[in-house]
Amino acid sequence: MSNINYDYIEDYLRSLLHEEDSLLCELESYAMENHVPIIHPEVKQLLSVIIKSKKIESILEIGTAIGYSSIAFCKAMNKGKVTTIEINEEMKNLATKNIKRAGYENNIDIILGDANEVIKSITGKYDCIFLDGAKGHYVHLLEDCLNLLNPGGLLISDNVLFRGMIASKELVKRRKITIVKRMRKYLDVISEHPQLETSIVPIGDGLAISYYKVVR
Ligand SMILES: C[S@@+](CC[C@H](N)C(=O)[O-])C[C@H]1O[C@@H](n2cnc3c(N)ncnc32)[C@H](O)[C@@H]1O
Repeated sequence: MSNINYDYIEDYLRSLLHEEDSLLCELESYAMENHVPIIHPEVKQLLSVIIKSKKIESILEIGTAIGYSSIAFCKAMNKGKVTTIEINEEMKNLATKNIKRAGYENNIDIILGDANEVIKSITGKYDCIFLDGAKGHYVHLLEDCLNLLNPGGLLISDNVLFRGMIASKELVKRRKITIVKRMRKYLDVISEHPQLETSIVPIGDGLAISYYKVVR
């Protein structure tokens, strides 16, 4: 129960998706068995449609985990370029293996470190930035992300409804209060930011899609 959608809606949406990539299927099972949080299948599908229709060619991701979303992004881009940052060395090593198995070792660069520090050393511009690391850090990473985003690009943030806790006081767990406060602040900022136009989509655990306006 995600507290975002009714189970029957989620089950129905998933019943329409048929992942044919055997490695991605294997990683989904691995993630489930080992409690590694990865993007939900219906979120992956939405991102794939966005990547293809916007012809996105480069993505900066915060939060690699086992490399599932990085691999899915490369598939959707028909290769393209992903830079992904992961703080946990064990995860980084697992992702490196999985990315090699997928044949994307020349397309995906994994940087080991804390995204809050690493992001300051990244140069270049990306068509899309995917925020999927520590949920309480989104608000601190925002300005650095925008500096690395091509105008007309997309900032996409996962888990922004955080199991329903962002929208409902009743659902907030005490130990999650700080994350909830910071995520609410983040959603306020990206909703009111003069250079962003944001839509919050109640899919998966909540996805914010922010268009970075082209200023003329
Ligand atoms: C939700 S998982 C990422 C899932 C992945 N994007 C996917 O869908 O396949 C979040 C990851 O962010 C990493 N993480 C947490 N804090 C971080 C930080 N400050 N810098 C970089 N990575 C971080 C965690 O170790 C974890 O592996």
